[in-house]
Amino acid sequence: MKSNRRDFIRVSGLTGLSMTGLVLTGINGLSTMTNPLAGSHGQSALPASSPTPGPTGPPRPSGSPGPSGAPSVTGSLGPPEYTGATGGASSVQTPGQLHAQIPYPDRFNMCGYAAPRLETVRIGFIGLGNRGPAAVERMTHIEGVAINALCDLRPEKTEAVRKKLEGGPHHPVVYTGGEEEWKKLCERPDIDLVYIATPWSLHTPMALYAMNQGKHVCVEVPAAKTIDECWQLVETSEQTRRHCMMLENCCYDFFELLTLNLARAGFFGEIIHGEGAYNHNLLEGNFSKTKYYDCWRLKENFRNGNLYPTHGLGPVAQVMDINRGDKMDFLVSLSGRDFMMGAMEKELAAKDDFYKPYAGRSFGGNVNTSLIRSSQGRTILIQHDETSPTSIRVSTASVAPKAPH
Ligand SMILES: NC(=O)c1ccc[n+]([C@@H]2O[C@H](COP(=O)([O-])OP(=O)(O)OC[C@H]3O[C@@H](n4cnc5c(N)ncnc54)[C@H](O)[C@@H]3O)[C@@H](O)[C@H]2O)c1
Repeated sequence: MKSNRRDFIRVSGLTGLSMTGLVLTGINGLSTMTNPLAGSHGQSALPASSPTPGPTGPPRPSGSPGPSGAPSVTGSLGPPEYTGATGGASSVQTPGQLHAQIPYPDRFNMCGYAAPRLETVRIGFIGLGNRGPAAVERMTHIEGVAINALCDLRPEKTEAVRKKLEGGPHHPVVYTGGEEEWKKLCERPDIDLVYIATPWSLHTPMALYAMNQGKHVCVEVPAAKTIDECWQLVETSEQTRRHCMMLENCCYDFFELLTLNLARAGFFGEIIHGEGAYNHNLLEGNFSKTKYYDCWRLKENFRNGNLYPTHGLGPVAQVMDINRGDKMDFLVSLSGRDFMMGAMEKELAAKDDFYKPYAGRSFGGNVNTSLIRSSQGRTILIQHDETSPTSIRVSTASVAPKAPH
């Protein structure tokens, strides 16, 4: 199946500057950019690692304990209000500068935290299906990395990757053939980082277990499936002081980083609205007998809502300094009905017994649209559509150009 994935972000406001796949606008217009790639103060686009705890995140839900039994918080925990990237390049503050201004919260927070430096990062990989092997391969190009362990339920998957590493500097131990073999990988003393690329339901349990074994964690998107799982990750990361990074690669593609740099340099003025989407036709893949292990992605579609929000949301959240001065405050999410999945299931089950167990299941709505409002009154629109052929998607969304005033 040819991929027609289109993950795009659009951030819009009042002046209507548009770029391919992205619209960024701000109420202050375009005239103040000096050197966007260097940032407004010659700093890099990404927040520098710093041992200083950063601003607090969003309030924890009532009843959710903080780390080390800290009392739960129901009110706003936010730092002094950040007024956004207003003004021209000269008045834009980087997250690092914001961190410096914000008083210490009374609770430790991983934002801005950097664990002690490791000379060599010793990695164990779990999940070597479609995604995992490419991650292993990428790591072989990075200095200061040792690939010490590989794990997949299916022996042919671990064997394929082990063979590729043969003759090189990496000599991983292999765990395979059992549902819980991955725990042995997490328990190894010669692993610093556990890299997880398994079906979604395993992400949080594996990440929690690894952090509790003292390992840092990289976990594929989405890191969690429920709000409760999200808080388990946050709190375990804080308690263990292990990094838990969701591998939201879309935050780090060249296009998104360029946009982030431009935004931080004040090129767009104040950003008041952002849009992102995962519009990627996976209809065939979801019904394939072999593409995803045990059809896990088909089964995820029994749920309703935006199943895969972060490719679109991550870059917008970075541009808008979400959890670094602003925070998401309110969300409304709406799905239409299922036009595609049930019909396809019915058609396949009529001619192939393999699909009979799924017959009669209801699937989530095919197009989901969510609207988020931030504490500072900015809005984000996020869409998810895994079934429409992209070629026939019609969008009239655009931003009306309006002169700055
Ligand atoms: N960031 C991106 O752009 C991107 C792209 C593709 C996939 N992904 C993510 O990567 C993850 C994996 O996707 P995929 O397409 O590789 O799926 P996949 O089904 O091809 O691979 C999952 C692997 O996990 C293994 N597995 C299942 N249960 C296991 C267990 N108990 N112990 C050990 N291994 C187990 C399976 O054998 C399989 O090989 C998903 O979370 C997906 O969302 C991210």
